[in-house]
Amino acid sequence: MKTYLVGGAVRDAMLGLGVKDRDWVVVGADARQMEAEGFKAVGRDFPVFLHPKTREEYALARTERKSGHGYTGFEFHAAPDVTLEEDLLRRDLTINAMAMDESGQLIDPYQGARDLENRCLRHVSAAFAEDPLRVLRVARFCARYHHLGFHIAEETQALMGAMVESGELAHLVPERVWQETLSALGEPDADHYFKVLSDCGALGVLMPEIEVALERLQQLPLRALRLAQEQALPSLHRFALVSLQSLAATEEDCTALQRLAERLRVPQEFRELALMFNRHLPELHQPASQAESLWQLLEQLDGLRRPQRLQQLLECARLLGELLQCSSLPTSVLGLLEQARSIDARALMQQGIQGAALGEALRQRRIELARQWIEQQPRQGASHG
Ligand code: CTP
Repeated sequence: MKTYLVGGAVRDAMLGLGVKDRDWVVVGADARQMEAEGFKAVGRDFPVFLHPKTREEYALARTERKSGHGYTGFEFHAAPDVTLEEDLLRRDLTINAMAMDESGQLIDPYQGARDLENRCLRHVSAAFAEDPLRVLRVARFCARYHHLGFHIAEETQALMGAMVESGELAHLVPERVWQETLSALGEPDADHYFKVLSDCGALGVLMPEIEVALERLQQLPLRALRLAQEQALPSLHRFALVSLQSLAATEEDCTALQRLAERLRVPQEFRELALMFNRHLPELHQPASQAESLWQLLEQLDGLRRPQRLQQLLECARLLGELLQCSSLPTSVLGLLEQARSIDARALMQQGIQGAALGEALRQRRIELARQWIEQQPRQGASHG
């Protein structure tokens, strides 16, 4: 029985990057032997075990054969006679198909080191096409390694296009699409994830709403995403910006975004911010000159109850404003909300104001605060911010 370090750990160590997870392959053993050595079986889909001390993953070397659709439709063969080279052959990219033995010796039958040197993402074999998730993985690796100069090999690009054409991507479950997308959003060049997917046709299949909006807005959402990356805004903001549908905030835009969010099962927090940003875009970029309408907007944005989300929304609006060279509602409006929250309703009640009149009195005081806030804003013609 021999163990080898494989996959991302070898790749990232060779790139001089920090290694997060270490995956191991075991050659010449079977499940019984592993368990006798104290390993704990955890694999649902194929034989993988946790090391009794390090808790790192050890998989038995295996070959795979396509038996159905999507990335789960596989039959595997794991037995002591499966070689390391056979196990590496079934992997996605040459840079992910290298192994290192216990003495630190590199085993690289598919020229991963050469491709790493040339900054090239290249598939190992035609078996790449058996797993549609790999199209998203390549796009995600582009988002992660673009700054190091990586590109996709022409033949891999062609294969990705053919996979999209074949209709295989329709078998990806939404959770996996979102999982890859979320990981990609956190990468240094997340815009390249969408660009690569768009180039091979996958974006049009998996997220047609984003694809259509990119065309309609002449790539503005990707420029916004790039600026968000430069300013280190979190993935939450990045998703809202990249899913921008139009500048007009029509009902159809909101419906399209809702459809996207539902299809990909986008988590609530991401969905809400993106929807709110799309829905209120025009007001967020309009100078607030009327206290009453400003207060109404803050109410619509649920600013009293959700100041943090409002702040995220204002940060998205500020960024878009920078890009379009227009004003946006400044974050100082959060101070106005803070004041509005501290209005003492009990003091009003002690004055004998009750019921609907109390609500109205509170509203008037808040509008008054909004008026004062507007007056404090620096005048730039009729605009602010
Ligand atoms: N792998 C594959 N096809 C997939 C998923 C994984 O060939 N659809 C192989 C690759 O060899 C990969 C390894 O399994 O390197 C481990 O997969 P995973 O941990 O998902 O990815 P990493 O390459 O380690 O990348 P990351 O840094 O994102 O974890």
